[in-house]
Amino acid sequence: MSSELIQFKVTAPSNIALVKYWGKFGRQYPMNPSISMTLKNCVTEMSFKVDRNKKEKGITNFLFENQASPKFEKRLNDFLKSIEDLYPLGKELNLEIKSQNSFPHSAGIASSASAMAAFAAGLVHIESSLKNNIDKIDLQRVSELARIASGSACRSMIPNYAIWGETKMDIGSNEHGVSFENIHENFKSMNDSILIVSSEEKSVSSSLGHQLMHGHAFREARIEQAHENMRNMINAIATGDYDQFGEVLENDALTLHALMMTSYPSFILLKPNSLAIIEKIRILRNEHKIPMYFTIDAGPNIHLLYPDSIKDKATKFIEQDLMPFCTNVIHDRIGNGVSIINE
Ligand code: DP6
Repeated sequence: MSSELIQFKVTAPSNIALVKYWGKFGRQYPMNPSISMTLKNCVTEMSFKVDRNKKEKGITNFLFENQASPKFEKRLNDFLKSIEDLYPLGKELNLEIKSQNSFPHSAGIASSASAMAAFAAGLVHIESSLKNNIDKIDLQRVSELARIASGSACRSMIPNYAIWGETKMDIGSNEHGVSFENIHENFKSMNDSILIVSSEEKSVSSSLGHQLMHGHAFREARIEQAHENMRNMINAIATGDYDQFGEVLENDALTLHALMMTSYPSFILLKPNSLAIIEKIRILRNEHKIPMYFTIDAGPNIHLLYPDSIKDKATKFIEQDLMPFCTNVIHDRIGNGVSIINE
């Protein structure tokens, strides 16, 4: 057993789903396939100090934004235990971890995707360091571990666009995310401006939402529709078709909310200002004939997606027409996935 102390830092981004993962089975496998765009600015930065000689094993002294967070420390320790079959090395390690996000917690952006992607990348990097093989990180292994921690996290380490889940096409796996590389020029420079409507805690956790899909009256129809939306989204990104992209993007986001509204119990996460923004985006798009579209995660905030070619116009619309309905806006764009800095 080697005795070295390994120290390094990982940054991992969040991602925005274009076709949403909603519903799961077994060891966190998705009920339907999803595709996401990896972000660049909304990242978790996690620094690791790894010691194999310390008696105490597992994650100790976990700090989130320089403060102890026993709740998240427990979540990481539980996760590490749950993957002992896949990552037996975990039993031998003492990990001191400091984590911070580039985006405010109150922004309502799911931080578990970036945090769990960062943690999984850290685990894989430790394994590689002990084998003296750190030239290239095994993204498939990172993704597989991250999936078990949080489904959407398994797409975050992959640059640009990531697919997760078996599709009816020749791409995708339930085990891990895969890169979608057939990207038309039109989709290589996408922006995601996150319009913050409310930063209150969510009234429904994603975990509960996923569970409610099991007995949902629209379950089968949703699975069918997600496959169709995947086919069309992939086609739109490959051929550069903004109209098709926007149609599928908005349909899938509104479906997610329709599913939540029609589950038992029912949840309405959209706020009046979310609807006001949606309406305004559609009016501006039609008036100005520009490719800018919305998507929404399990919360009230609106993600506005548009290419660099209309960035000046979109920025002006955000400031003049959309900001009156928001408390804040975070400008993000398509990004490169995970990175590791040895210290
Ligand atoms: C609406 O990945 O947060 O963002 O697997 O239980 O951790 P767990 O759920 P999570 O669900 C994300 C759902 C979503 C859609 C998506 O990102 O695909």
